[in-house]
Amino acid sequence: MVNVIAIDGPSASGKSTLAKTLSEKLHIPYINTGSMFRATALAAQNRGISWDDEAALQAMLRTLSMEYRESAAGGFELFCDGEFPGEKLRTAEIAAGASKVAVYPAVREELKNLQRKMSSDNWIVMEGRDIGTVIFPDAAYKFFITASPLERARRRLAQEGDKAGGTLEEVAAAIAKRDEQDSNRPVAPLKPANDADLVDNSNMTLEETFNYLYNKVKDAVL
Ligand code: DC
Repeated sequence: MVNVIAIDGPSASGKSTLAKTLSEKLHIPYINTGSMFRATALAAQNRGISWDDEAALQAMLRTLSMEYRESAAGGFELFCDGEFPGEKLRTAEIAAGASKVAVYPAVREELKNLQRKMSSDNWIVMEGRDIGTVIFPDAAYKFFITASPLERARRRLAQEGDKAGGTLEEVAAAIAKRDEQDSNRPVAPLKPANDADLVDNSNMTLEETFNYLYNKVKDAVL
C-alpha cells in the first residue's frame, strides 16, 4: 500500500477541483498528471518533434526534467526544464497534442516511471485517468469521479460558454462519444479500478462530493 490518493475520471467530472482542494485542506502535494502529457506535447513542439513520432518523444522524455514544485501562488505546479509552463499548457492546441501523445505506450511508460518516483512515505494526491489502475494499483485510496454526459456538458457550458463548442445536447453527445473512445482504447483505457470508490456526482454539488472524499481520507492523512 502506498500513501497515494488516486483521483481518476473523465473530464468535466470535477476531479481537478476536488484533487486540488484535497491537497490544500490536507497540506499535501497535488500532482495533475494531465499536465505531464500536456508538457510533453509543448516540449515536443518547442523542439520541432512531431506528436506522431513515438521514438523521438520517448528520447526527448528521457532528457527532460519534470517535477512538481510549490509555485509563487502557493499551489503545486509542474516545473519543466527550468520553468513553470503554467498557462502555456492550457491552450486548445496543446490539449489536442496531449491527447495525441497520450496514446503511445513508450510515452506512457516514461511518464509512469516519473509518476511512480513522485510517491514517498509522505502522502500525495495524484489525479489522472489511470492512476488507480496502472500507476498505483496499490494506492491507499482510489476514487473514480464521474457524472452523466448531460451534467458534464452543463458544467462545461457554464465554464466555457461559447468555447464549449455547441448546444447542451451537442456538447453532451460529444462528451459521450469521447467517453466511449477513451474507455475502449487498448492502452490505459479510462475505467475504474476494481477496488475504486465510484463516485457519480451528477446529483451532488462539488462541495458535497468534496466532503465525501475528505471524510474518507482525513483520519489517515491528518
Ligand atoms: O486532464 P487533462 O485534460 O489535462 O489531460 C490531458 C490529456 O492527457 C488528455 O487527452 C488525457 C491524457 N491523460 C491520460 O491519458 N492519462 C492521464 N493519467 C492523464 C491525462
